[in-house]
Amino acid sequence: MDRLAGIEQVAVIGMGTMGTGIAEVIARHGLTVHAIDVSEDALHAARRRLEASTERAVARDKMTTEERDALLAHISFSTDLGECASCQLVIEAVPEDVELKRSILGEVDALAPDHVIWCTNTSSLSVTQLSTAVRKPSRVVGLHFFNPAPVQDFVEIVRTVVTDDAVVDAVREFAQRIGKQAVICEDKAGFIANSLLFGYLNHAATMYEQKYASREDIDTAMRLGCGLPMGPLALLDLIGLDTAYQILDTMYREGRDRLHAPSPILKHLVTAGLKGRKSGRGFYTYAAPGSPEVVSDDQSPSPGAESAAGRAVSTVGVVGSGTMATGIIEVFAKAGFPVTFVARSPDKVEGVLAAISRSLDKALQRGKVSSQDVEGTRDRIVGSTQLSALADVDLVIEAIAENLAVKTTLFADLDATCKPGAILATTTSSLPVIDVAASTSRPSDVVGLHFFNPAPVMKLVEIVDTVATAPDVIAAAESVVTTIGKVGVRCGDRAGFIVNALLFPYLNDAIKMAEGNYATTDDIDTAMKLGCGYPMGPFELLDVVGLDVSLSIQQTLYRELREPGYAPAPWLEHLVTAGFTGRKAGRGFRSYA
Ligand code: 3HC
Repeated sequence: MDRLAGIEQVAVIGMGTMGTGIAEVIARHGLTVHAIDVSEDALHAARRRLEASTERAVARDKMTTEERDALLAHISFSTDLGECASCQLVIEAVPEDVELKRSILGEVDALAPDHVIWCTNTSSLSVTQLSTAVRKPSRVVGLHFFNPAPVQDFVEIVRTVVTDDAVVDAVREFAQRIGKQAVICEDKAGFIANSLLFGYLNHAATMYEQKYASREDIDTAMRLGCGLPMGPLALLDLIGLDTAYQILDTMYREGRDRLHAPSPILKHLVTAGLKGRKSGRGFYTYAAPGSPEVVSDDQSPSPGAESAAGRAVSTVGVVGSGTMATGIIEVFAKAGFPVTFVARSPDKVEGVLAAISRSLDKALQRGKVSSQDVEGTRDRIVGSTQLSALADVDLVIEAIAENLAVKTTLFADLDATCKPGAILATTTSSLPVIDVAASTSRPSDVVGLHFFNPAPVMKLVEIVDTVATAPDVIAAAESVVTTIGKVGVRCGDRAGFIVNALLFPYLNDAIKMAEGNYATTDDIDTAMKLGCGYPMGPFELLDVVGLDVSLSIQQTLYRELREPGYAPAPWLEHLVTAGFTGRKAGRGFRSYA
């Protein structure tokens, strides 16, 4: 078998976004690249993109000017498929159209040497179907790169039922040589990463289409709530809406899962020529085609638009003594609000004060706050065991058990206790805010304020208005969230709000993928971390969040939205039943010391 040492010349066919990125990566590792496209214009554009991308790499100290010059010298551009004759490896990266790909592979097959290894960068089409376009399907694999290819250090190698093992090995070594970590997967639409990513992206597009939340709020929520490098709509723009549409369409046709049926907004934008970043406009508008710089347009929030007068909030009450309540008390007190909190017993009051003291001392040691700040913050906090202590506060935040009966009882009591005009907020993460509001005689004063754990660290707050919430309550909530240094996003009162509604079905899909033995938990975590820049893989995250908590959120989403695809994965239910609830129990999807 021809081994890797034999691969010195590589043809990349199709100089779109992905082909250009792939050519850059390969040339950077010292191999000769023949960059081929049918169109001279596409080749010129590719050359410009390569120059800009490598210039950015030099500016960011990722390479020297000499390395850049060498890289560019390793790439030749041509419209002639005959260039493939001298290559040991051919990578096809033309648009996601089976017939187009097959016809190009067939044409090159007649020109390329017998021993050539074929790679297709298809993101979702059947590699098996593409492989039969050449004389030796056993020499064809999928080699799926991630956008931007020079940055995402990961590839999926897709093996078909006829791929020669030695070819898989050679491509794996090739991937290593060009600095990519690889996982091997079978030929199923979407492979690992896309089949988990695109359900989530499609869901986000649908949220936007249904005007459930603004594009900025959807993206901000996922960046700040989950630490993702980009929000889903910005990512769709980067991937290209035409490509995204094709991938979803293929996934839908293969699996008939209606969660993969492309959201109509994708088709509309593509039909209008708004294909994302590459055309200068998609969900967002960019400074120029290909530019990453977002410029304002008619959908951009205009500063001061939400300056509708909100109710004045100068004192705050918090009910609860758990992790969330403690974090929220600290956040408000640090921001200068006098905070009265109510816990169920004197012990719990002491526990909260001690936990906040520890947190403030840690911040002091790390130089994040001054000793004056610490004293001031402590002085602003008062604990009580009586709800009547909240009679005069302007805003009450409830952060007690995630149980509707418990919450509605509390809100009825708050209704009887708090002064007229006080804003009553719930931090529920999954219960309907309107149910809580309806347990009071003043539903217009009730709003959801969903903080993320740990509250002092996480920047995001979802501001949830119900059909009854008064505008001046929403305006006050927005203003308070800004005052405490957080970023608020607005969303409607629907299970999971933005973040959990987008995150948990994706986590559930990952469990189902591993349960179906398509990929291991390790490979899935690697794919999402390296391919998409996620800070944690889905299984790492599930173990941190807690499998019991995750299951309960899945159940709520499934119950409320009745979407068959949201039915909790049986494996998750079994682990919870066995008491394997994640890191806190020493065992979840993985075992911990
Ligand atoms: N070569 C090497 N490194 C480069 C580079 C180049 N040509 N260009 C940029 N970089 C480096 C930069 O130096 C920087 O590194 P640093 O953080 O160590 O300084 C890093 O790459 C990113 O730099 P940028 O300034 O260009 O951009 P951002 O910091 O704004 O990050 C992003 C942009 C990398 C796109 C990031 O937002 C991200 O990871 N987003 C998620 C992307 C993703 O999910 N991709 C997968 C999509 S799905 C897919 O592709 C499959 C397909 O089938 C659809």
